[in-house]
Amino acid sequence: MTKANLNFAELPFSFIPTDYNIRYTFKDGVWDKGVLTQDQTLPMHISATCLHYGQQVFEGLKVYERPDGQAQVFRIDQNAKRMNRGADKILMQQVPEELFIEAVFRVVNANRKFIPPHDAGGAAMYVRPILLGTGVQLGVSPSAEYTFIVFVSPVGPYYKSGFAPVHLIVEEEVDRAAALGVGDIKVAGNYAAGMRATMGAKKKGFSEVLYLDSRHKKYLDESGSSNFFGVTGDNRYVTPSSPSILPSITNMSVQQIAKDKGLTVEPRLVPVEELADFVEAGCCGTAAVISPVGSVTHRDKKFEYCKGDTAGPIVTDLYKTLSGIQFGVIEDPYGWTRIVPEGV
Ligand SMILES: Cc1ncc(COP(=O)(O)O)c(C=O)c1O
Repeated sequence: MTKANLNFAELPFSFIPTDYNIRYTFKDGVWDKGVLTQDQTLPMHISATCLHYGQQVFEGLKVYERPDGQAQVFRIDQNAKRMNRGADKILMQQVPEELFIEAVFRVVNANRKFIPPHDAGGAAMYVRPILLGTGVQLGVSPSAEYTFIVFVSPVGPYYKSGFAPVHLIVEEEVDRAAALGVGDIKVAGNYAAGMRATMGAKKKGFSEVLYLDSRHKKYLDESGSSNFFGVTGDNRYVTPSSPSILPSITNMSVQQIAKDKGLTVEPRLVPVEELADFVEAGCCGTAAVISPVGSVTHRDKKFEYCKGDTAGPIVTDLYKTLSGIQFGVIEDPYGWTRIVPEGV
């Protein structure tokens, strides 16, 4: 198939229009069959619950082109499950897992020419499912109607630096999520809450913030759009675990890979002081893949995890294995990848 006329090797991580998006509506207790549209706007009632009361939950996953030209998704079932956990938590209608997967496959097929070629420097097609409460309410209560949209955009690496170190600062003035709030689900409000922290960090020359738990301000939480992990000198993969962290599908996968490479995996509360114990560190997520962390600054201390601009051997190895599986270069022993069937 002829690819779209784009410079795939130089793509930013930003919205690039494609031909179609797909929309499904939940009304009178049932989901409809969905429709592909070229319309990039969304007419909506001004009193829809997503606009006023944050009934919105979304996802992010990628489609990768394999060396043989086939397109594959990575752990799509986990994205469907996470979106539904989010929907449940904020009292929204769930999207059946088969419908979620069908929606992604249909919209990918309608936009195949936008899937970056295999050798475009790690570029992939980003898939963004969104679930919105679109029924009318004025008082605070759940919607009776929902809209499920999936759109796609070809993207390059999230951090401009690609697989080069990112620099984090521990955020002490802003909380991304409350201890018993909604930090563990992918709702828009968490990102709105974190924007001023991220922008503040960027102004100071950092790539992103590293949040602390909001109750004790003592334990590491996660970064603005990815999970954090550190690797110790005695081969332990230590990653913060708490009810306010978004359970990253990438982190879940890297933990498995790390275990199979002989590292001891420790998802647990990680006191901020343990920053001093790591010899390497990384941020992981669909967009970030694994970004090596060059340094974390906490107050007047700077902890360094890379030699100059070179990531350490363990983070590099984890990155190569993960992205090798995602791009179909390394055989997937876990059953995580799934070819996007044509004709759906
Ligand atoms: C706050 C936050 N944490 C972690 C992640 C990484 O999650 P995943 O690996 O499922 O993309 C993301 C990205 O979705 C995120 O937005």
